Amino acid sequence: MSVVIHQLKMTGVRKTYSTGVVKVEALRGIDLEVDQGEYLAIMGPSGSGKSTLMHIIGCLDVPTEGTYELDGTDVSRMSEKELAEIRNRKIGFVFQQFNLLASLSALRNVELPLVYAGVPAHDRRERAEAALEKVGLAKRMQHRPGELSGGQQQRVSVARALVTDPAVLLADEPTGALDSHSTGEILELFEDLNDTGRTIVVITHEPDVGARARRLVHIHDGLLREPVPVAASGATR
Ligand SMILES: Nc1ncnc2c1ncn2[C@@H]1O[C@H](COP(=O)(O)OP(=O)(O)O)[C@@H](O)[C@H]1O
Ligand SMILES: [Mg+2]
Repeated sequence: MSVVIHQLKMTGVRKTYSTGVVKVEALRGIDLEVDQGEYLAIMGPSGSGKSTLMHIIGCLDVPTEGTYELDGTDVSRMSEKELAEIRNRKIGFVFQQFNLLASLSALRNVELPLVYAGVPAHDRRERAEAALEKVGLAKRMQHRPGELSGGQQQRVSVARALVTDPAVLLADEPTGALDSHSTGEILELFEDLNDTGRTIVVITHEPDVGARARRLVHIHDGLLREPVPVAASGATR
């Protein structure tokens, strides 16, 4: 990996949305640490705050209260330029609805983040091809999203997330629109990526998806609950 984030750390993170007179407390005091190389699932029902949490983890939004630090640096003290750099280079995003551009081939879709990063055309193409090969789509590079199955489209979006070689892969309900076969393929891909040292954070409401991660935390009404490890529970003999 070209860039590493050794640790993501949230302390007392709250997020309140104000729409007119109504205030929604989407996150109500989140403490969370994720170290390089972890594969974490954050699981909770609809409306529990998962997407809000993902947006903060991915530096797409900021907490109302509390701190979010990347390798010890408070994100709220970073400039917009630094944040854009983190979003473009250090974090890869995968969304439920793929978010691919319908008029572009798989290859062009995967090249896009490199266009924004100013990578020369020849390198772009090579790296996009390599990313598509990694997700098993070497033979579908010239297809447009509409000519691919849901599972294949999601693999294109994983390739797009990976093409910048980010330290962290952040996925919000990545299998929410997929059948069980395609879900299995995406989860296998995540396991392979994690085996090579990449940090993965998956947000899901599906227990099967959560169970495949190496660490699982639950979110309910904007609060996290992590099972206490048996060895650390202080049980008396
Ligand atoms: N932009 C927003 N403005 C106002 N309320 C929001 C906004 N985004 C999310 N919410 C509210 O915050 C809560 C958590 O939403 P969200 O993080 O999307 O949950 P999840 O992803 O778990 O379904 C919900 O009550 C939702 O209605
Ligand atoms: Mg959501």
